Amino acid sequence: MSEQIKAPRGTFDVLPAESPARARLHAAAAGVLERAGYGRIETPAFESTELFARGVGESTDIVTKEMFSFADQGGRELTLRPEGTASICRAYVEHGMHKLPQPVKLWYLGAFFRHERPQAGRFRQFAQLGLEALGTEEPLADAEAIILLDELLRELGVPGVRLRLGSLGSRATRAAYREELLAYLREHRDELPAEARERFERNPLRAFDADDERTRAVIAEAPRLLDRLDGEDSEHFEAVKSLLDQAGVAYELDGTLVRGLDYYTRTVFEFISDELGAQSALGGGGRYDGLVEELGGPPTPAVGWAAGVERILLALGEEPAAPAADVFVAAADGERARALALATELRQAGMRAELDLAGRSLKGQMKHADRLGARHAVILEGDGSAQLRDMASGEQRGLDLARVAEELSR
Ligand code: HAM
Repeated sequence: MSEQIKAPRGTFDVLPAESPARARLHAAAAGVLERAGYGRIETPAFESTELFARGVGESTDIVTKEMFSFADQGGRELTLRPEGTASICRAYVEHGMHKLPQPVKLWYLGAFFRHERPQAGRFRQFAQLGLEALGTEEPLADAEAIILLDELLRELGVPGVRLRLGSLGSRATRAAYREELLAYLREHRDELPAEARERFERNPLRAFDADDERTRAVIAEAPRLLDRLDGEDSEHFEAVKSLLDQAGVAYELDGTLVRGLDYYTRTVFEFISDELGAQSALGGGGRYDGLVEELGGPPTPAVGWAAGVERILLALGEEPAAPAADVFVAAADGERARALALATELRQAGMRAELDLAGRSLKGQMKHADRLGARHAVILEGDGSAQLRDMASGEQRGLDLARVAEELSR
């Protein structure tokens, strides 16, 4: 026997029993987002590496260590997309969408790739669904985006959901704040773990997601960006909060919310679930007013989010279950062609119909029908007659073959 080949670390197969829960999630997302006027967009699974380097940020974890990058046969530097926002901004510019009525409202669903350490809820290939509203600065757009994710999670019945909300202000405010925080961390250098000091020198905001006690103690007293927002940023944030209040969406103000991507300005948010362990973020996003311009387009304020499909499914905790057949067509030898024709006819009538494809005896076929959870079995006897069996009760009666579809749909 040859050596077995396994799926790469951090990837997974979606087996048939797991696919109905996924399909329900997809349908719910499509429903919620399309009803709000978002149109689905699909972009390639890989892009120029430059897009993410420039879009997501050179110093982020994603760009420095989590990208699956490769050179193609022509020597072009490509990367499997680690996120969707940069791609969508690229598409917005490439297709001249700034000439359309604004905002352009897009949603997406697909596979994303990050070379992270795999654990529960964290994979190297995962699915995200998300939305982006490009071409508006209005707080209404931020509020709508948040409300739509809230609505989706509610409709699905995801338990233990909380919303963390913050604002990063403008790039200038953030740059000034970064210096202030850096100075503060330097002052407290001796109280920080040695191995973290260098990291905070490069990106002081990271100190807010540190989980060691010493950093937490230092950061608890640190100046907060939320207290440093300038007039317009502060007004914008007040408006977003007020809209959420009026919509009855509860949130927790969080001045320590740092997102792992550099493009954010103003509003940032994350939906978390208490049902999840360490990887508690169901989805997150925010405003990114400078990104389109940074990618070669006109100045275009925008806001959006992405949610992790596997995280949502994990929080829902649904048991895998393949849908049962409506009817199993069992056939005596010599009747198998007729069984295939009947199954085809029943499928055309909208039923989920199966038949034996493995040469089982009639007895074996009934056992198989039971295993499949079929509600009914039609048994084609060798003498041309047919029986209808209710699999749960075992009740059985003669059946007019010309009227099977009609009888079964009763
Ligand atoms: P993100 O926070 O990096 O944001 O990812 C969004 C969601 O994707 C996370 O909350 C999580 O549920 C899921 N996710 C991320 N990484 C993994 C992983 N390795 N395994 C499983 N699930 C994962 C973004 O990607 C932004 N593009 C969101 C956005 C859209 N901001 C503005 N517009």
